[in-house]
Amino acid sequence: MVLEGRASKLPWGSEPNPLLLGPMQGLTNRGLREVFGTTVRPDVLFTEFVRVRPGAETPVTNSDFIEATATVPGIPLVVQVIGSADEGVVEATRDLVSRGVQHINVNMGCPWGRMTSILAGGGMFRAPETVEPMLRELREIVPGSLSVKTRSGIDDERQIFDVMPAFEAASIDFLVVHSRTVQQKYTGAANHDLTREIVERCGVPVIANGDVTTVEEAAKVMDQTGAAGLMLGRGAIADPWLFDRIRGQAPARPTGVERRRELARHLSLLLDSYETIFHGDAQILAKLKSVVALIPDADQARWCKSLKKQKRVQGLRQLLNEAVH
Ligand SMILES: Cc1cc2nc3c(=O)[nH]c(=O)nc-3n(C[C@H](O)[C@H](O)[C@H](O)COP(=O)(O)O)c2cc1C
Repeated sequence: MVLEGRASKLPWGSEPNPLLLGPMQGLTNRGLREVFGTTVRPDVLFTEFVRVRPGAETPVTNSDFIEATATVPGIPLVVQVIGSADEGVVEATRDLVSRGVQHINVNMGCPWGRMTSILAGGGMFRAPETVEPMLRELREIVPGSLSVKTRSGIDDERQIFDVMPAFEAASIDFLVVHSRTVQQKYTGAANHDLTREIVERCGVPVIANGDVTTVEEAAKVMDQTGAAGLMLGRGAIADPWLFDRIRGQAPARPTGVERRRELARHLSLLLDSYETIFHGDAQILAKLKSVVALIPDADQARWCKSLKKQKRVQGLRQLLNEAVH
């Protein structure tokens, strides 16, 4: 399937309507990115958010630096930063860029706790006047793409139109929109009629995000919004081949047997990868189980439950091996 969107002027040439793997805290670590990057090759990868630490000796922790510089050859890695616009985001970005980071994305959508109360993440909507100066400064220092990922507002989905002039004035390269408010968290559905309005009114390319889990939904959202590309989140964690399915390079709907085998192979690769970067059975299993928790298929539920019950990596590996063969 060829996705038909608005001709994009995204900073990485070849794909007309790119498919991006979204940033997901606790999930899109370098181990998972490596597996996706070598199997289904999203057009763009994002890190989990890097939390800015204003006033600390280093504004970015060492472990975040390791994550921010773990690239997959041939795929742009966008590093997402989260912090208050007037407190540390610029400083942290300078630090990241000095260590070789090319692409920066600012999180304006995180709906969780402290972030929204300190004017970071979704909280930036409370101080829209701080957004443009921050983005202008970032524009000067980011060598590759500069982008923003946002929700539609805090408690009113029209709030995005108040900050849109800041995105345009600072000439960011693209905007990723998850059309839910911060208050909504994950309830209800993403409002892709609103995404369309944002695409029409915004002077920078818009990437649509939210609730795409099938080939049909991908086509529908692209059709409905005319966006420059799609960002896949939970749908891709549950079904990495969604990238290939949308590209027409994998069956749109595998049989239950195929699906089990695909999942088992993918989870085995993740397990191999996690064993090299995480330590001890408890941590490795916790990371893998957070992926399994997002697999929604009713006909895989019992199998997923038995995966989640495993207390040792060895036991989990055995179950996965049995399903692959
Ligand atoms: C577990 C989890 C962690 C997330 N972490 C981040 C994050 O670090 N930064 C961010 O911008 N969005 C984050 N998100 C939001 C996703 O990137 C995405 O915008 C949202 O899930 C909607 O897309 P989807 O319906 O395709 O999942 C997270 C979502 C989930 C489920």
